[in-house]
Amino acid sequence: MRHRLGPTLITGPEIQARIQELAAVISLDYADRDLLLICVLKGAAIFWADLCRALPIPCQSDFVAMESYGVGSFPLSEPRFTKAADVALADRDILIVEDIIDTGHTGARLRELFRAASPRSLAMCALLDKAERRQVSTPIEYCGFVIPNAFVVGYGLDYAQQYRHLAHIAVLEGPPEM
Ligand code: IMP
Repeated sequence: MRHRLGPTLITGPEIQARIQELAAVISLDYADRDLLLICVLKGAAIFWADLCRALPIPCQSDFVAMESYGVGSFPLSEPRFTKAADVALADRDILIVEDIIDTGHTGARLRELFRAASPRSLAMCALLDKAERRQVSTPIEYCGFVIPNAFVVGYGLDYAQQYRHLAHIAVLEGPPEM
């Protein structure tokens, strides 16, 4: 079955309202700290762009990219950086900004890789949590929305590099094997 864009799961205004709530909590938690947002490319780029502009506190940003999948759609047990951070991470308050936590392999591996750089603190902010699909436990300190088990696109999330530009999150019908 060819894929096609399905129903809206989360509207653009719902996403924006939730980002304001997340930013309010994050700015309280990180007031007077040394906040470094790490945006995980490419899926989190749009979320990061809106989240950092909603934060009323000083912060720095950097970008990493991960290779998450091997052959087909099977997650790698040890995803690795295809682009590492450029800035020094030791003693920083690192907040990882992710698009979605699905099986949990990527989130768990990101934490392991960043923990090795001796940050002062380390936390995860993910727009979406597909909790039913979890294979590896990994904490999400700041979560936008818990969603059902469906392949979703939009607001940075893609299928074959399509749909990232959508302002909303939609279900993809006829999706890849998960
Ligand atoms: P993990 O399975 O938690 O390791 O997720 C790895 C990556 O798979 C995420 O960062 C996303 O880039 C991608 N991913 C997982 N579920 C979806 C989805 O429903 N739509 C688009 N990308 C997804």
